[in-house]
Formats: sequence, C-alpha cells, structure tokens
Amino acid sequence: MALKVNCGYLKDFVREHELSAMQGAVTAAHTALAEKTGLGNEFLGWLDLPLNFERDEFARIKKAAKKIMADSEVLLVIGIGGSYLGARAVIEGLRSTLYNSLARNKKLPEIYFVGNSISPTYLNEVLSLIEGRDFSINIISKSGTTTEPALAFRVFRELIEKKYGEQGARERIYATTDAKRGTLKELADKKGYESFVISDDIGGRFSVLTAVGLLPVACAGCDIDALMQGAAEAFEDFKQPDINKNECYKYAALRNILYNRGRKIEMLIAYENSLAMMNEWYKQLFGESEGKDGKGLFPASAVFSTDLHSLGQYIQDGSNIIFETVINVKQAREDFFLKDEPENADGLNFLSNQNMSVVNQKAFLGTVLAHTEGGTPNIVLELEQLNEKEMGYLIYFFEKACAICGYMLGVNPFDQPGVESYKKNMFALLGKSGYEKERAALEAKINV
Ligand code: PA5
Repeated sequence: MALKVNCGYLKDFVREHELSAMQGAVTAAHTALAEKTGLGNEFLGWLDLPLNFERDEFARIKKAAKKIMADSEVLLVIGIGGSYLGARAVIEGLRSTLYNSLARNKKLPEIYFVGNSISPTYLNEVLSLIEGRDFSINIISKSGTTTEPALAFRVFRELIEKKYGEQGARERIYATTDAKRGTLKELADKKGYESFVISDDIGGRFSVLTAVGLLPVACAGCDIDALMQGAAEAFEDFKQPDINKNECYKYAALRNILYNRGRKIEMLIAYENSLAMMNEWYKQLFGESEGKDGKGLFPASAVFSTDLHSLGQYIQDGSNIIFETVINVKQAREDFFLKDEPENADGLNFLSNQNMSVVNQKAFLGTVLAHTEGGTPNIVLELEQLNEKEMGYLIYFFEKACAICGYMLGVNPFDQPGVESYKKNMFALLGKSGYEKERAALEAKINV
C-alpha cells in the first residue's frame, strides 16, 4: 500500500478495543456506499471513477493540454471551490508553490487561477500579468451559473476575443461543465468551445480526477495516467470493510473516535510548502461534506515548521479540542546537502554533512512527540514519496474516508445546502430580480 496510517502516537488517546468497536459502524457505512443505499447516493460517480473514467474524453484532455502547452504562455483557470482547489492542489503538490516562477525555464505555461473571489484588485493584477502574452482559458463550472467564475469569464472572454478575434478565441477557450444544462453549457455550444464534461453524479469537491482537475494538471506537465493509476490502486486497496486491512477506513474510524471524545477540530499538517493547497482542498472536501445538521469536525490545517512559530503554542498548550493528522512524506522530491563550515560561526555545524530532509524529519518527530505529550492526539499518514501515482492514491484515500466519515456521522456527505445562503443574500443585496422581498428584510438588518 502506498499509504500507511501510523497509530503509534495515539496510544495515550485511543485504546485498541475502541478501534475494534468501530468495525460495525464502518461496515454499515461501507455497505451503504458500496450498495448505493446511503444519503446522497445520486452523487457516487467518483467512487469507481479511477476504473471507469471516459477514455475518449481522457485522450481529448491530453490533446488539449498539448495544444495549450504549445500555443500559450499562460493558462487562466477560471473556477471556484471544487472547480479549482483540486487542480491547484495537485499542480503545486507535484510541482511547487513557486510553479509559475519556475514554469518559464521548464517551457511550461504559467497557470493562474481566477474567478475564485470577487476581488477587483486580484483581477486587475492578473490582467496586467497577461498583457502582451499568449494565453488560453479553461472555464470550469459544473452549474455554469456561479457568480464568481461567470464574472471573471465575462472579463477574460472579452479580452481573448479582442486579442485573437472570435475564431481565434474559440480555439483557446476550453469549457468544463455539465453535459446538458447551465448557462456555460449553452454558451459553449453556441460559441463552439471545446467542452469537457462533469457528470451529474460527481459533486464539485469530488471532481479533481475528472476534466476539472485533469486538464489544468496535464498543462503543468504532470503525468495524468500515473495519477489515475494511483487512484485505481487506492480503489483496490480500500474496497473491503475490515479496518485492520483498510487504511482508509482505519483513518475514518480514528477521526470518528476522536470527534466523539470532544476533539472538534482536525488539523491537517504538512511538512512541505508545496502541500499548502492540498490542505485547502482537504478543508473543502471535509468541511462541505461533514459540516451540517449542527455536526462535523472543523477542518483546519498548517504547514510545519512554518506554522509552529504561530499556531504551535496553541496546539501544544491550548484547549483540548484539536487532533492533528500529519502527512509524512519520507523522501523529499528535491533534497539539499548541508555542508560543514570550517568557522562554524553560526554554531550550526551539528546539522552539517547530511541532507536537509533529515532535519525536516527530526522536526516532524520532535513535534509529534511534543504535541502528543502536550495532550494533542496525532494520526500520522506515512508515504514514501509523493509523485503522480501517490498523489492519485492520496486523493482517493481522502475522498473515500470523507464519504465513510459522513455516513458514520449520519449526514449527507454529498450536498452543500449551507453554501447557498450567502449567494441568496448577495443576489438580494445586488438587486437581482426575484429577490425583492429578501432585499428589504436584509437591508433592515444591516448595521454599518
Ligand atoms: O463542492 C461544491 O459543490 C462547490 O464548492 C462547487 O464546486 C463550487 O460552488 C463551484 O460550483 P460550480 O462548479 O457549479 O461553479
């Protein structure tokens, strides 16, 4: 197995029999998922996606990526939530947080994510960044009606049409959306954009292994065949219910035990800067799936050792409401050898003549030991390395764990009714027709 759940640091917090006692609940959740009898069972298209993905569309994704890499210095990925986080997490996780600065030397297109906020400042910054440069657009919206990406698309579509003309723009715009419905689908059909499908049975936050994630990821030069192969291996490894033979279910059970013990916050911890966006993807996946009906773990995250210098104090010594899930990647993608310095003026020679990854591993061990000693349980997810295959494996691990956790919690892990409330208020306050009554009620409550 590419991933191992190390429970060794949980001994003071979870007893062995408690884990075994979870088997019944895990089996029930597993059965509901496998037999498609649980809540939200119309959204289980992600479950066997690693085996059954559309091969023709996959080939079109690779072809489109090749074209974008050949004719564009910049790719703009327009999308929000599940229509952007996964792609960004995988690109940065496999490449770098500095991907865009390094892309030019590697002859790869820079990739900017837009339409994930309503900030006019950010929009203007990206507009100035692409001035005079060849670019393409991948607009991603399952519903095709989300305000943030729709607004950004309006701006960049005008620009691309002005620069390349209607026909030229058509060859540079790629739409990833519903197969049949929505404003974006209508526009894509009318204008003749190359389109990719997000199928009805896959929700946004479970869509990273569809065209939503795969097209941008392929444009960053990542091997999407290996990504899917890793996910397929995870599918095989996590298909039977025994907690002792299924690392994904073991993790789900441990989270549930800790939650019932009053640990209401799970912090996902990475020791690589490049995993910061993976943390964000995980937060959406679990936050939108579990946080409902007054229940659910609050998903938080940190990158260590950076955040040990900000959040470390609280985790070590604050309220006992947190547990940590640490992603420990044993082999750094790029290591750095620390040389001896004859003068030893900084007193750091005790660190020299070894790789910097060794220092990072000691930081990991030192922190796990300190935090568990301070009363914070730690689940450790061990991976030997993190290339495309392991990334696909990790994505599927979290997706399936999330579904199992949601069912154990008794919620529908596949809807997100709470996301609609702010949208309704925003439309009302902006004067969209049909929202007149809501607008009056809201304005009476505004306090500025
Ligand atoms: O997980 C989800 O369903 C949401 O986060 C959506 O992905 C997000 O709201 C974007 O929606 P859409 O792709 O319809 O524009």
